[in-house]
Amino acid sequence: MDKFIIRGGHRLSGTVAISGAKNASLALMPAALLASGTSRLENTPRLRDITTMSTLLETMGVVVRHPGTTIELDTRTISSYEAPYELVKRMRASFYVLGPLLGRFGYAKVSYPGGCAWGPRPVDLHLKAMQALGAEIHIEAGYVVAKTNRLTGADITFDISSVGATGNALMAAVLAKGTTVIRNAATEPEITQLAQFLTHMGARIDGIGGNCLTIEGVDELHAADDRNIPDRIEAGTYLAAAAATGGEVTLKNVDPSHLTGVLAKFREAGCTIETTVDGVSLRAPDRLEAVNVTTAIYPGFPTDMQAQWMSMMAVAHGSSVITDTVYFDRFNHVPELQRLGAHIDVTKNTAVIHGLDTLTGATVMSTDLRASASLIIAGLVASGSTEVLRVYHIDRGYEAIELKLRDLGADIQRVDSEEY
Ligand code: UD1
Repeated sequence: MDKFIIRGGHRLSGTVAISGAKNASLALMPAALLASGTSRLENTPRLRDITTMSTLLETMGVVVRHPGTTIELDTRTISSYEAPYELVKRMRASFYVLGPLLGRFGYAKVSYPGGCAWGPRPVDLHLKAMQALGAEIHIEAGYVVAKTNRLTGADITFDISSVGATGNALMAAVLAKGTTVIRNAATEPEITQLAQFLTHMGARIDGIGGNCLTIEGVDELHAADDRNIPDRIEAGTYLAAAAATGGEVTLKNVDPSHLTGVLAKFREAGCTIETTVDGVSLRAPDRLEAVNVTTAIYPGFPTDMQAQWMSMMAVAHGSSVITDTVYFDRFNHVPELQRLGAHIDVTKNTAVIHGLDTLTGATVMSTDLRASASLIIAGLVASGSTEVLRVYHIDRGYEAIELKLRDLGADIQRVDSEEY
């Protein structure tokens, strides 16, 4: 199993190209199930989660080709409507196949996702939406079995704004009979991208980008091509790495409009930020100022940036408070950051970080994707050598991270390790 060895203390400096958005791709790929033919999605990152989604679609009979950054999905030979436990347990986004399978074939059998690294992550909103659209749902031997003759348009109001439930409901409703209204829909750019791809496939959706989506169901969709948006969390992670090391970085291939809330926080911390239509530059101050953040749905500060922000705050001037209102238990990175000397206290869903002059290298363990990113940032700051174990988590969501960081001047090596 690979690990990273990082020798910290180098200011990052240079330009880095941002890859396509993982979380958008994970919605766009199952959307291709809604029509027969070949869909091509440009700017699809080469990541472990994308491979898992490809494997899942292949088990259903989809022919997948992903030679460069364009993925081709040929759905003419679909022969199974099942998402097995082995794949759903590896990646919860596998649950995204429920809506399209049900909408197009009237049947889906999808393993019920278990807990995740940071506590329970229910799917009740997904299931309620499918039921509102007329599906019969049973739980059988750990699987959600959903059936319908044809889904029927419905008025759906989500209690909580959920990215996954909105995506699933949208993909189910585009082929339903009649009109569906989704209220309190997620407005994350990944959902907007999904809705735009669905309209390229022939879906009729009003209100794209807002929190109320109106869908006129159609009888059939067709395969389509699209270009994926840039990954705003990967972008934010490189900004955090540059800021924490007192460096300067220019991001290429980004959409600064997706980063508004995040960039405002970097400015508050003392960074100079400049944007172009598809670029962001950051210059860090000698020492970052402590800045509080509270995670929220888009366009608020993303929970997927919370761990990376904490690493920055661990070496900022003063004390800061981070509250995660999206996932209450998402603090697995804290004990590992403490191994590097960080001074952090957690009570319920709030962490108080007392900034120190520096951190000290140690061996730490990745527990999930964004926690791994935070440990790498902390390792880049720490004096001496830091070993980050279990980097398979990072490979789920960051394309060639050590190469991109090395181009910015980081001393980071991937080595094969016996340690688990
Ligand atoms: C997506 C992202 C994930 C990100 C999260 C929040 C993907 C593949 N993953 O996850 O990286 O951290 O959005 O921005 O896009 N909830 C329920 N019942 C449900 C569904 C969700 O109570 O049926 C709750 C969750 O526990 C959470 C909140 O709703 O508190 C938001 O979660 P949600 O937006 O659904 O996250 P995901 O789509 O799973």
